[in-house]
Amino acid sequence: MKKMLVTGGAGFIGSNFVHYTLKNHPDYQVTVIDKLTYAGNPANLSAVLDKIEFVTGDICDAELIDRLVADTDIVVHFAAESHNDNSLKDPYPFVETNIIGTFRILEAVRNHGKRLHHISTDEVFGDLELDDPNRFKETTPYNPSSPYSATKAGSDHLVRAWIRSFGVQATISNCSNNYGPFQHVEKFIPRQITEILEDRQPKLYGTGENVRDWIHVDDHNSAVHLIIEKGKIGDTYIIGADNDHTNNKMVIEMILELMGKPRDWYEHVNDRPGHDLRYAMDSSKLHSELGWEPQFTDNNGMERGLQETIDWYKANPDWWKPQKAETEAKYKAAGH
Ligand code: NAD
Ligand code: TYD
Repeated sequence: MKKMLVTGGAGFIGSNFVHYTLKNHPDYQVTVIDKLTYAGNPANLSAVLDKIEFVTGDICDAELIDRLVADTDIVVHFAAESHNDNSLKDPYPFVETNIIGTFRILEAVRNHGKRLHHISTDEVFGDLELDDPNRFKETTPYNPSSPYSATKAGSDHLVRAWIRSFGVQATISNCSNNYGPFQHVEKFIPRQITEILEDRQPKLYGTGENVRDWIHVDDHNSAVHLIIEKGKIGDTYIIGADNDHTNNKMVIEMILELMGKPRDWYEHVNDRPGHDLRYAMDSSKLHSELGWEPQFTDNNGMERGLQETIDWYKANPDWWKPQKAETEAKYKAAGH
C-alpha cells in the first residue's frame, strides 16, 4: 500500500477525489487533512470514513503538516480558499491558506523528500477576449485578476521555485471550472440548481456573455491520477474538457431546460467587479503525452453530467439546505 495525504479532502473536488481514489486506486491508503472551513463538510466523506484517516487541522500549522507529510508517500494538495466573490469581500484568508499554507506543504515535502501534486486553476492566466481564438496553454503567461486567482498564481510560483531551487519532486495541474456532486451552493451551477429547487429564478451576473470551460469533477480527478502516475516531475499540465459555454445561453438555459422550466426564466443581478470574460483550455499535452480521455465531453456529455448533478441535488436536500439561506443572504447583501 502507498500512503497518500489529501489536503482539503472534505471540500468539493477533494472529497470527490477521495471517493474516486478508493474506487479506482485501492492500492492507496488515504489520509485527509482539512480545516473544515464553511466549505469543508465531513458529510462529504461519511460513506468512507471507516476506510480513511481523517485529521481536522490547518495546512498553515507547520508542525502538524511536517508530521503528516513525514508519514506519507505523496501529498495531493487541494486545500484552498476557492471562491472569487468571497475573495473580493475579504482577501486575507486567501493569502493565508493559498500562499502560506502552500509554503508549509512545500517545506514539509522538501524536508522529507516526498512527492507533491499541486492543484491549481485556469484563473491564474487571467481572461481571454470573447473573440480571441487562443486557449490557455502550459506556456501562457500568468495574469491573474482577483485576490483568489492572484493567491493561486502565487502558490504555483512557490511550487515552481521549490522544484527549481530545492529539487522538490512536484507536478502542477491547472484545471477549468468543475461541476458535480458535493459542490458548495455558493458556486454557479449548484446555486442555480438549488434556486430552481426552491422555486426561485436563477441569478445571472451582468450580461451573461462570460464564458467558462466546464469539466465534470470525475474527469478532473482521472487526470490528476494520470499525472501522479505518469506525469514528468517538474512539469505542469492543463486540464480541460473542451466545454466552453456562455453562462446564459448554454449553462443557465441548459439547466432550466433539464429542470422543466422555460429557458428564459432567470433574472439578471449585479455583475462581479473585475469579472473575467472568458476562460478556454488547451489540454493537448495531457492527451498526447499521458493519453488522458475525459468521459463528459461536448454538449451531450455536459448535458449528461448536468443531469446527474441536478439529480444529486434533488436527492440530497439535507446536504445543501443548511448552507443555502446563509449563502443567499450573503449574495443579497452584495446585490447578487
Ligand atoms: P472547496 O472550497 O470546495 O474546498 C476547499 C477545502 O479546503 C475545504 O474542505 C476547506 O475546509 C479546506 N480548507 C480551506 N482552508 C484550509 C486550511 N487552511 N487548512 C486545511 N484545509 C483547508 O474548493 P474546491 O472547489 O474543491 O477546490 C479545490 C482545489 O481545486 C482548490 O485548490 C482550487 O483552487 C482548485 N480548483 C477548483 C476549481 C473549481 O472549479 N472548483 C477549478 C480548478 C481548480
Ligand atoms: P463561479 O462558480 O463563481 O466560478 P469562477 O468565477 O471561478 O469561474 O462562477 C462561474 C461563472 O458564473 C462566472 O462567470 C460568474 C457567474 N455567476 C453567475 O452568473 N451567477 C451566479 O450566481 C454565480 C455564483 C456566478
